[in-house]
Amino acid sequence: MTRRTCQAIIVAAGQGTRMKSDQPKVLHQIAGLSMIGHVTKAASEAGVDLISVVVGPDMEAVQRAATAIHPAVNAHIQTDRLGTAHAVLAARADLIDPKDDVLVLFGDTPLLTSDTLKSVRDSIAEGHDVVVLGFRSDVPDPYGRLIEQDGKLVAIREAKDCTPEEFAISFCNAGIMGFSGKHVLELLDAIDDDNAQKEYYLTDAVEKALAKGLGATAVEADEDELQGVNNRQHLANVEAAFQRRARDAAMTAGATLVAPETVYFAYDTKLGRDVLIEPNVIFAPGVTIADHVTIRAFSYVESTKVADGCVIGPYARLRPGTVLEEGAKVGNFVEIKKARIEKGAKVNHLSYIGDARVGEKANIGAGTITCNYDGFDKFKTDIGKGAFIGSNTALVAPATIGDGAIIGAGSTITDPVEADDLAFTRARPTVKSGWAASFRQKKAAKKKH
Ligand code: UD1
Ligand code: CA
Repeated sequence: MTRRTCQAIIVAAGQGTRMKSDQPKVLHQIAGLSMIGHVTKAASEAGVDLISVVVGPDMEAVQRAATAIHPAVNAHIQTDRLGTAHAVLAARADLIDPKDDVLVLFGDTPLLTSDTLKSVRDSIAEGHDVVVLGFRSDVPDPYGRLIEQDGKLVAIREAKDCTPEEFAISFCNAGIMGFSGKHVLELLDAIDDDNAQKEYYLTDAVEKALAKGLGATAVEADEDELQGVNNRQHLANVEAAFQRRARDAAMTAGATLVAPETVYFAYDTKLGRDVLIEPNVIFAPGVTIADHVTIRAFSYVESTKVADGCVIGPYARLRPGTVLEEGAKVGNFVEIKKARIEKGAKVNHLSYIGDARVGEKANIGAGTITCNYDGFDKFKTDIGKGAFIGSNTALVAPATIGDGAIIGAGSTITDPVEADDLAFTRARPTVKSGWAASFRQKKAAKKKH
């Protein structure tokens, strides 16, 4: 059997007025990735050969967001927004020589999985010319309804065009449809705008197919996966559904989440086995955590790579470019940015380490600051293997601390320190014997008068 070819058309030209936003709806993010990014990713994982994105004028950013996910993206502009079928036809040039399976996706349905798309493709392969993705909902209000007769799909009716009986139906149109490439253009071209909103409805493809003696069917999937986003409340609902899915996947893969509902994942967070995550931990995009890592409460981790056996937090902030090697420890109120903390090194308390390397088994004392920025440029700090940095030290970058060197507490280090040397800067304390006691006596005497 030869492989069936496939293309996806993602329509995303709507501004999404109900979002009340200055940016196009599909650029709003779920788990750190734009909605258009999620949909493009699902299409890409379903094995498409070509993705067409239909955007409105001045929506280059939407096109860029899709291209960042999949290399073969053709963008098309829909100037007048005359409905979902009209939007798909903006990609007509990509339908002249269609692939075997044509998937139409909406940019505002971001939780769609590639498995569901594959089931739509399977249904096309079985001979259905139009395949509609549906779901059951207790609150079907805004969605188009799937109308069946004798268990067979006969039409999709927009909520605004429904009779009261049709409006009571709980089987909803997710918006996502599959077409056999052979018939897609003739079906789309047959659609008119004879309805309540005077729009070209993609949903009319079902009735057009039946009128031509072609087959249409519905494939059912989970409501959680097919929720569309039209306003900020929907955006929050979809984010919540994403998080439920991600927490569940993390636990299934062998991570312990002490309070799963308080841990937030990004779309691309990768966790190993026997990872322990305490409550209130947030992952921004770009994080990979190896096995046997503990992340204590209230930590925020972004674009960071963590090796086996590290311990992070509580209250740690790991910013982009952080690499923790095996067994490294980062404790409370520590911020790390663009720095490699090598094997077994410790940064346990109240420190800022930026643009730096901390050598194997080095110990960074409480309150150590790498002074990496002079207001114009950033400079590097290099701390050698086994070095010991005393508490409350300012390392003024560019700074080099050799292997095994010791820096005395409270120092401001501006010169390179060689391996195994001791360096400190320190004003000698002035001690006045008994001064405090006589000061208190004087003050007390004054108060009595
Ligand atoms: C659509 C479906 C509805 C379904 C629901 C699922 C139609 C007619 N209705 O309704 O049956 O239950 O999605 O979420 O298909 N778009 C364009 N250009 C246009 C119009 C729309 O690009 O001219 C894009 C939008 O950017 C959006 C998608 O198409 O990504 C869906 O449009 P929207 O207006 O949100 O459709 P719904 O009213 O939600
Ligand atoms: Ca919608």
